[in-house]
Amino acid sequence: MQPRTHHCAQLRRDDVDQTVNLAGWVNNYRDHGGVIFIDLRDREGLTQIVFHPENGEAHALADKLRHEDVVWVRGKCVPRQEGMANPKLATGDIEVDGTELDILNKASTPPFTPDDAGKVAEESRLKYRYIDLRRPGMQHILRTRHRVTKIMRDYFDEQGFYEIETPFLCKSTPEGARDFLVPSRLQEGCFYALPQSPQIFKQILMVGGIEKYVQIVRCFRDEDPRADRQAEFTQLDLEMSFVEAEDVMAIVEGVVRRIWKQVLDIDIPPLERMPYNEAIRRFGSDRPDMRFGMELIDIADIAKKTEFGVFTNAIENGGTVKAICVPGGGAMTRKETDALADWAKGFGAKGLAVTKVAAGGKLETGIAKFLAGAQADLIERSGAGEGDLLCFAADTSKIVHRVLGELRIIMAHDRGMIDKDDWKWLWVVDFPAVEWNEDEKRWDSLHHPFTAPSDEDLDKLESDPGAVNSKAYDIICNGSELGGGSIRIHRQEVQSRVFRLLGIDDESARVKFGFLLDALQFGAPPHGGIALGLDRIIMLLCGTTNIRDVIAFPKTQAGADLMSEAPSPVDDAQLSELQLRVTAP
Ligand code: AMO
Ligand code: AMP
Repeated sequence: MQPRTHHCAQLRRDDVDQTVNLAGWVNNYRDHGGVIFIDLRDREGLTQIVFHPENGEAHALADKLRHEDVVWVRGKCVPRQEGMANPKLATGDIEVDGTELDILNKASTPPFTPDDAGKVAEESRLKYRYIDLRRPGMQHILRTRHRVTKIMRDYFDEQGFYEIETPFLCKSTPEGARDFLVPSRLQEGCFYALPQSPQIFKQILMVGGIEKYVQIVRCFRDEDPRADRQAEFTQLDLEMSFVEAEDVMAIVEGVVRRIWKQVLDIDIPPLERMPYNEAIRRFGSDRPDMRFGMELIDIADIAKKTEFGVFTNAIENGGTVKAICVPGGGAMTRKETDALADWAKGFGAKGLAVTKVAAGGKLETGIAKFLAGAQADLIERSGAGEGDLLCFAADTSKIVHRVLGELRIIMAHDRGMIDKDDWKWLWVVDFPAVEWNEDEKRWDSLHHPFTAPSDEDLDKLESDPGAVNSKAYDIICNGSELGGGSIRIHRQEVQSRVFRLLGIDDESARVKFGFLLDALQFGAPPHGGIALGLDRIIMLLCGTTNIRDVIAFPKTQAGADLMSEAPSPVDDAQLSELQLRVTAP
């Protein structure tokens, strides 16, 4: 086989009369009265090859070609006949008159062709991922992913960061999900955990004097995969010494700005900062999608004055009542609005009350009959107009925010209120350090236990933990949490106080994080960092809401790789070497 002279998206009118060698897959074949046409595909694109009966041997071989055969072709680049040009194809002005053909690998009939992949079930695409990967859409995503990591590496190199690998076989890390465990053969009964993130190691690199660390790194969290979550995902992870939150945020803005410019030619303006409390209050979420309005409206004072038990009870029980106004939502049917109430129950709500706004600001249907006296106030507060739908949640403020925060997103999507070309970035800042876990009756970190409390709140750590803010920041784009980070605790005594607050006593802190506590005693510089979800960045850049689309070999909801059939049972011999016994059936 002679080397390829061109790829399949390369030949143009200027190349006419050249003899070329191409190789690739048979995307399509057609026989037009004895003349055989092949669309040859490689990763760059398509070129049409034509085999005339005069080229006896090549023509006879070409007659046997079927979908996905791998071939090598030699021939002359010729202009397409008058009126036969294909403007949709980069090579659409020419074709190659095939004179030699070599079938490098005859393919069995494929379960689907790359062109049809969009029409087949995702399970089938994942099982035959190598065929799915041949489709231009997947190739575009993987090419984009490659470009993005290259831009990241170049950027951080320019900024003086070192890329340093941290261990995969390590001690349990504290990001809050379940660990994947790996049994140790050499130390019986002991286990490694796969890292949920390199958090502790990157902090120790700062103690180790590295000053600026970056890594594009796989993280492992044994949680249920969702639309934007995988058990195995990739972070752009970084850490810096002698910095404040603003320094880390500036570095991150720099890299996303460069990526969006180079990949999409979009300029990202300086990012707004929004305090956590404001994000929750206005949008019901700590990752607000700011591409549309429909903000949450506090109507507790109005609700209190009504006779509606659902409202008054919620307030008497220390909760709140909020509403959103869905523009044009009045067109929803009874069935649709009833379904919303059931949907809300999935979030622990007791229901979702609605009413429609008719002409003259008159409330009709739903809970209108309970709101007679409050009608004018509600209209004024919400700015609702004829044809709109008011949706109310009455509950603890946590549930109210969750339900309405999700509802506004669903309503905006359903009603086409989101401009696909809009990009809304922001930093959410001023997070509370801890949040009360009612089920476990203890304080949990909002970020992780190494996040530094704000200096001015340090003295409230024991007396009023709920009022302590932290030096954490999340970067949000279009309602997706792209990254989160913080300035860390760099003094051992503060770290011990935070562990105690989280119910981690000195002894378990020693067992779990003794090496970090030790390191903090031997000259730890002030430091901070962040991790961005690479998969989520690629999802945004490529316009997909399915994280599996941006990963070459992803896992299903059940955590399975349908192609290699992992996970799978293992031999008894392997188990006994590890001193393990499977007790489940
Ligand atoms: P955090 O847990 O917030 O922080 O993770 C950082 C970012 O990683 C992405 N991400 C995920 N992406 C896909 N699938 C998942 N299961 C998944 N989990 C997280 C998100 C998220 O914003 N060590 C800290 C960072 C730090 O403090 O520096 C950490 O891991 O985009
Ligand atoms: P009920 O009085 O329970 O029949 O509820 C009347 C309406 O209020 C129904 O549409 C319920 O879905 C809704 N609803 C019930 N509880 C709540 C709540 N806590 N918050 C908002 N709406 C509710």
